[in-house]
Amino acid sequence: TAALAVPGLWTAGCRREPADAATIAPSLRRDTPTGPTRTVRLRAEEIEVEVAPGRVYRTWGYNGAFPGPELRVREGEQLQVVVENHLPEGTTIHWHGVPVPNAMDGVPGLTQDPIAPGQTFTYTFVAAPSGSYLYHSHVGLQLDRGLLGALIIEETTPHVSYDREYTLVLDDFLPGEPRPLTAATPGMRGRGMMGRGMMGGMMGVQVPPYAGSLINGRLPEAAPVFEVRRGERVRLRLLNPSGASTFRFAIDGHAMLVTHADGRPVEPVRVDNLLIGMGERYDVIIEADNPGRWAIVAVPVEGTHPPARAVLHYRESRARGLPSGLPETLHGRPLDYSDLKCLEMPPAQRPDRSFDLLLSGGMMMDPRWTINGQAYPDAEPLEIAQGERVRFRMVNHSMMLHPMHLHGHFFRVGDALKDTVLVPPHMGRVVFDFVADNPGRWFFHCHNLYHLESGMAREVRYR
Ligand code: C2O
Ligand code: CU
Repeated sequence: TAALAVPGLWTAGCRREPADAATIAPSLRRDTPTGPTRTVRLRAEEIEVEVAPGRVYRTWGYNGAFPGPELRVREGEQLQVVVENHLPEGTTIHWHGVPVPNAMDGVPGLTQDPIAPGQTFTYTFVAAPSGSYLYHSHVGLQLDRGLLGALIIEETTPHVSYDREYTLVLDDFLPGEPRPLTAATPGMRGRGMMGRGMMGGMMGVQVPPYAGSLINGRLPEAAPVFEVRRGERVRLRLLNPSGASTFRFAIDGHAMLVTHADGRPVEPVRVDNLLIGMGERYDVIIEADNPGRWAIVAVPVEGTHPPARAVLHYRESRARGLPSGLPETLHGRPLDYSDLKCLEMPPAQRPDRSFDLLLSGGMMMDPRWTINGQAYPDAEPLEIAQGERVRFRMVNHSMMLHPMHLHGHFFRVGDALKDTVLVPPHMGRVVFDFVADNPGRWFFHCHNLYHLESGMAREVRYR
């Protein structure tokens, strides 16, 4: 079996199961705005994207752009997003990580019907709590055509100071129409299966055409350049909305101070690199104290695809061009979930209800990805009741990473609050707890889009 280079993920923190005093996530939801209403329009439409000079693809996106426009609001504002669907098929938008009211969650079949071609739908919710989030289509494989973007809810009083900030959207990009796994049979090895669902190059099958790994919609040859001045503290918001890549992220010549995980503030922890799964977000601060022109890389950890690249450039530096090679920091100290100590931790509580969830799939004869052997939508809902403290115990019986995402709630994993958590392969275990404080029908699923599409999902339903 392939040895995955994913240290810094599964030490004690997230699989330790407290014997009797489980600790549960607090409610961070907000129903009433404390600021003005902000209205934004998003047109879902066919667009042309240039991921590098001369490499133009026709795909789908928002407002002509890929990634879509960064939506930026202040915590407490009422956000009103008018979505116009100019696509040839139905669509929705999901506000990934934000505990919105259920009807605003954008999940077709659970919370709304897809917005039909030519139609408009308005999403309204309070922008809270602050943090780095994502928005994306939740219909089929639309996300992987480019229907995604960053949603930033600015804090009123940040717990860390900084002089400048940048958003880095990490992505993988496959030109053309993405294909689901479910169509795969042993005779048909479409790129949907080998390129996106399985580890590239496994079983001797060739890796299909693949445009590459991107930062802010750019291939390495057109790598974005982030300018800094010596002496500045620079905040980077790292977001991974990609269809099928977990990245190891590092900046040459600089350590990172991790300040937020999935938008929640943590005690700052200094690391050299970190793993960021599909749907996860980290905010980090770097001290610009090492003038030069440095490589920023995001290396896909499953498969053999080349890294995404960007450049950290000091105004004082004369250096030009794309720094080549891989940063030393890739081999330094990785972030581990057990390093994360959330600053918003609630008091200890015992769970009222637990679920054991076995994640499996990816076998040659049955390419479906399942939870307890069931593939959504042919899967029983996980039933909970309002006010309950709920525990999910996951074990990964497969050889791939599963970034498991719960809609509508933050959960407690170790001493962190998150909404997406990587469950390591080869019997990796993760336990998380949450409070059932947001009634409705919620999605819980793997954020590898191809695993989701082949069934690795459940409804979490309030009775
Ligand atoms: Cu970003 Cu249901 O997910
Ligand atoms: Cu998965």
